[in-house]
Amino acid sequence: MEKNKIVVANLKMNMSFGQIKTYIDKIRTIETKRVVFCPSSLYIPYFLGYNYGVGIQQISNKIEGAYTGQISSKQAGSMGLVLTLIGHSECRTYLKESDDLINEKVKAALENKLNVILCIGETKEQREMLKTSYILKKQIISALNGLSKQGLKHVYIAYEPVWAIGTNKIPSNRDIEDTIRYIKKIVEKHFDFNNIPVLYGGSINSKNIEELNEIENCSGFLVGGSSLKVKELFKIIEVALKE
Ligand code: 13P
Repeated sequence: MEKNKIVVANLKMNMSFGQIKTYIDKIRTIETKRVVFCPSSLYIPYFLGYNYGVGIQQISNKIEGAYTGQISSKQAGSMGLVLTLIGHSECRTYLKESDDLINEKVKAALENKLNVILCIGETKEQREMLKTSYILKKQIISALNGLSKQGLKHVYIAYEPVWAIGTNKIPSNRDIEDTIRYIKKIVEKHFDFNNIPVLYGGSINSKNIEELNEIENCSGFLVGGSSLKVKELFKIIEVALKE
């Protein structure tokens, strides 16, 4: 079993300001940086100043300047944020983020001392066409292209099958374990970097976390919908972070 797992709460574009204040009131007791919250960027300042970690869901590939509507890794780092998600399937789909753009974002984040959670995963169609390995390999190789070993030390990969996000469907433990092994192998082979930490994400809840936590080579969890309900999230944290 992996030690020092992390739990990352991706709150996505949820909750009004009033709801966020109530939410923060409930989570402020968390005393570990192994739990990281990624709220809407608008709310980030309200999450700061406690003992959990704070990350950002989305950053620009640019560092500074006339880029209306964007937030840079330099700005995020200067606020004390610990990580950024990059390449989430919702950004790949709705914002049409390309592999090249994702690679630029990863480089920009690492240059500005932000840890990166690179999200990868296959769609239902790709899985049915037995293209999962091909897709994951392509996503990994393009996103990490040109990184130094020093840079890779600050990267987590989150395996989030697109068909498992928000659907209550999840792969079997055996499937996830095999996929994590495959992801690590790709990074070893193409970047000469051993044992990159891999998280799982997709329909995690308080009922399936005990079983998911049995996965041997998993370094933690990226939680969407269940992170909006504090009780659910606390159960997930309790199971995942117990030694
Ligand atoms: P759900 O937990 O809602 O399936 O979302 C997972 C996710 O996209 C986390 O980034």
